[in-house]
Amino acid sequence: MSTNPRIYLDFNATAPLGPRAHAVMAQAMADSGNPSSIHAEGRRARDHIERARDQVAHLVGRPREQVVFTSGGTEGNALGVLGLAAVAEQRGLPRIVAAAAVDHPSLRGAVAALVGRGWQLRPIGVTGAGALEVGSLAGAGLVAIAAVNHELGTIADPGVIAAARAAGALVHVDAVQAAGKLPLAAIDADALVISAHKLGGPQGAGAVAIAHDDALPLIEAGHQERGRRPGTENTLGIVGFGAAAADADPARRPASSRSPSATTAGQLAGSGSMAPARRGSAARSTPGSPVRAASRS
Ligand SMILES: Cc1ncc(COP(=O)(O)O)c(C=O)c1O
Repeated sequence: MSTNPRIYLDFNATAPLGPRAHAVMAQAMADSGNPSSIHAEGRRARDHIERARDQVAHLVGRPREQVVFTSGGTEGNALGVLGLAAVAEQRGLPRIVAAAAVDHPSLRGAVAALVGRGWQLRPIGVTGAGALEVGSLAGAGLVAIAAVNHELGTIADPGVIAAARAAGALVHVDAVQAAGKLPLAAIDADALVISAHKLGGPQGAGAVAIAHDDALPLIEAGHQERGRRPGTENTLGIVGFGAAAADADPARRPASSRSPSATTAGQLAGSGSMAPARRGSAARSTPGSPVRAASRS
């Protein structure tokens, strides 16, 4: 019989639930209201959700109105990519989506769905070290990339977004592996996705911050999330997500508790573009680096 305690390190697949997320979820469990109801129980549930919206909005550095709660990063990627595609079509932008073959299956799946609808794929090149190649994206109507690759930990070159903007394209960023590790406010995206369980929140909760009210929902069914994501909200999950987002928010943590790598990335992101810290290196292998691990997730 082994006497060694088991040490769980696979935080990039799922981080353990943080104590504050655990506590607020336990508290919210006692409130049984539907957040759409106008009685006291419903209003309490609504309050929980709107507090969480503020916490998530602060972490991503976007107005609270842009934050749409989802069931996680996978749904956020679908909502963002397909929603922005609808905006691109309304604007008459080219039905060409630029994306890399190395991104998370949820992002590739959303891009494949677009291709199934007649969009053309423009592959973004990837170097041998796993870095996205900055090239001309002229002709693209939508660019969909990850801020940090889920397998390699490579940080996307901000030049990719600059090239997308130069082309007049809309930009979707999967920031699931970046949230809590790199500053997100400086990322110039029309849609930005994060997921609670990578941050110390519960599985099954996430958000897309989307800057376009005319992005279409995946299901046209109800009024929740201003019609952008219908269905009764996952109040418990959202409450835990909010607490985890607040705990992960570098701006809300005392400077002494921030990891050196996060600080470095923040300084390097000062140019107003995506943090370029050692971008393109195949693995950020410094012990303690928050984006070093390559995990299948
Ligand atoms: C980069 C990236 N995007 C999206 C997802 C999917 O998120 P979720 O598990 O919340 O659906 C993951 C999960 O591992 C991921 O690493």
